[in-house]
Amino acid sequence: MTEFSKTNKITNKKPISTNIKEIHELNENFKGMGQKVEKTLTVQKEYVEKLKEIDRKKVEFSSMVSHELKTPLVPILGYVQMLQKQELMGELNKKQLDAVDEIYSSALKLQRLVGDILTTQKLELGKLEFNQENVDVAELLDLIIKDFSPIISQKKIHLIKDNPENIIIFSDKDRINQVFSNLIKNAIDFVESEKGQITIGAKNKKEVIKFFVKDNGIGISEINQKEIFKTFYQIDTSTSRKRDGSGLGLAICKGIIEGLGGKIWVESKENIGTTFYFEIPKQSIKINTKK
Ligand SMILES: Nc1ncnc2c1ncn2[C@@H]1O[C@H](COP(=O)(O)OP(=O)(O)OP(=O)(O)O)[C@@H](O)[C@H]1O
Ligand SMILES: [Mg+2]
Repeated sequence: MTEFSKTNKITNKKPISTNIKEIHELNENFKGMGQKVEKTLTVQKEYVEKLKEIDRKKVEFSSMVSHELKTPLVPILGYVQMLQKQELMGELNKKQLDAVDEIYSSALKLQRLVGDILTTQKLELGKLEFNQENVDVAELLDLIIKDFSPIISQKKIHLIKDNPENIIIFSDKDRINQVFSNLIKNAIDFVESEKGQITIGAKNKKEVIKFFVKDNGIGISEINQKEIFKTFYQIDTSTSRKRDGSGLGLAICKGIIEGLGGKIWVESKENIGTTFYFEIPKQSIKINTKK
């Protein structure tokens, strides 16, 4: 071992041979440690590969299941719709007609759920395709309001358009419509009947367009605001318990908006209301476009 004397001069107490032995031992130890680290890294890599494989299998499996569910739903819905047209399939009494209506609405819910699961999977795999077309924003907002008018008047609430500028963007109309629909469906569920007000709109910014869906519903706590975009996340409130839903809507919105090169976020105050914002480039930049 090397030591310093009082005059700071190096004094070698042990013979050089001992030093070489110690260095050799240290070297051996390092080698051993290196081998252990290498081994751990190999094991970890194997684990990561296994997990990736499990993930792939999981996605493949649920994708296959969803397709198997989707196919039989087509004739179910088709025949039920025919049964509802009594001039086609003969008269039904009131009880029979109620039963058919019930089957129809349940089959529609199932179809929506299967569709949402498939979309979520495509998003996870980066396989969701996007259109590129000219989208007249004011026209799109009018169409959305028209589509929702039956359910809006049924719940006696208001859905209004915040004077959007007349702007044409180059993006995916159906996907933007899907995002608005998911956000509006949520808003409808969380506003009070007769007092509820939902406003949708768009603001033209330099390179992006900023859309929003604002409601005066129950609001979302700060803790939950951080979680709601995750798949299957639902807030446990008395209102939530009374409604259908699987917690996929907002995750899909996020996936679509990010796929279009934009971002989505929420601002909310409990008992005051919630506003969802989403911004997308006015010129769609998505690579994964339909051929
Ligand atoms: N406007 C809103 N006001 C209050 N809470 C909301 C609002 N929008 C969403 N949430 C909360 O966020 C949760 C997640 O919403 P999301 O749309 O992802 O799922 P869902 O509506 O429950 O089911 P799905 O959309 O798949 O039918 C909801 O369950 C609800 O608790
Ligand atoms: Mg929803």
